[in-house]
Amino acid sequence: MSETKNSLVAERPDQFFAGRKVWITGHRGMLGSAMVRSFANENAELLLTSRQELDLRNQHAVFEWVERNRPEMIFHIGAKVGGIHANATLPADFLYDNIMVQTNVINAAHRFSAKKMVFVASNCTYPTKAEQPIKEEALLTGPLDQNIRAYAVSKIAGIEMCRAYRKQHGSNFISVIPPNLYGPGDNYHPQHSHVVAGILRRTHEAKLAGKTEFVVWGDGTPRRELLHVDDLADAMKCLMAADTQYDLYNVGPGFDHSIAELATMIAEVVGFKGDIVYDTSKPNGTMAKLLDSSRILSLGWRPKVDERRGLQSSYEDLLKLFATSGQDGRL
Ligand SMILES: NC(=O)c1ccc[n+]([C@@H]2O[C@H](COP(=O)([O-])OP(=O)(O)OC[C@H]3O[C@@H](n4cnc5c(N)ncnc54)[C@H](OP(=O)(O)O)[C@@H]3O)[C@@H](O)[C@H]2O)c1
Repeated sequence: MSETKNSLVAERPDQFFAGRKVWITGHRGMLGSAMVRSFANENAELLLTSRQELDLRNQHAVFEWVERNRPEMIFHIGAKVGGIHANATLPADFLYDNIMVQTNVINAAHRFSAKKMVFVASNCTYPTKAEQPIKEEALLTGPLDQNIRAYAVSKIAGIEMCRAYRKQHGSNFISVIPPNLYGPGDNYHPQHSHVVAGILRRTHEAKLAGKTEFVVWGDGTPRRELLHVDDLADAMKCLMAADTQYDLYNVGPGFDHSIAELATMIAEVVGFKGDIVYDTSKPNGTMAKLLDSSRILSLGWRPKVDERRGLQSSYEDLLKLFATSGQDGRL
């Protein structure tokens, strides 16, 4: 537990963000755009930078921008993100990009006196054999999933960097660990997508092609906890506004599904009537990653998005994307 106090605690919680300079990194991505949507009625001064305007790997550019703009609150979301295939084939890119981006943002936040930062890590930072449901204390207690080790190590470095700045400088920097995310703006690329987007795309394509079966990677037994991005955006704002006592918070709904259950649910949403076939030549990944989210639940946060309705809206998002960009999805 860490004692860093929140100098931002508001007298009127509904006005907490009003007039504040809030920097959302990675605001064009799936979670970043959910965060921007969630600020529609907050009257905050949102600071948004695209990769073209500010490549977060560039230390000089980041320092210069933060010095000029002086964000008070930072939601650090921008990162190189991808599914198992991307992680297995591009480990150097995941490690380099994420460590550079985090190092620059965290160090600049300290140098130019940001009041609080919420950094997004990932559940793959936990050991593959962590006791379920996984508590925050499980971090760094065992070996990681080999398929996503580079990405996991980069995110562990981010969590530890926030911790180190808290300890050495008293910086109010905290980290969140979400489970698998889904929602509008997801990446449907055939090789680079995460579990929900990947299964949605393959099911949709099987339906369009009139196939009698569609293929799911792995044997269907691993279990995954899902969180809609709107719920994570809400949780991150709750943590920004709260007088947080810890430096690390799991944020999940507290239940998971086997991949087979998830594939069946998605097939129903898509309206695919054929068989689900499992490609056991593809890796399963970690068998279970259910988070213990007691810390954030004790602050009053609860997920609000109904899962089936959330999956339905993801499918509508995929249909819209395919209608405007052909069948390519987002690269
Ligand atoms: N998706 C999941 O299931 C999941 C699960 C756990 C944790 N997370 C974490 O949640 C966060 C958001 O994930 P997401 O799924 O929303 O990812 P995403 O859609 O790929 O968005 C990532 C954003 O980061 C930006 N970015 C990446 N490198 C950058 C750089 N060098 N300079 C400036 N901007 C850069 C991207 O900009 P461009 O658009 O220009 O590429 C993009 O806007 C990430 O930190 C991720 O690790 C995601």
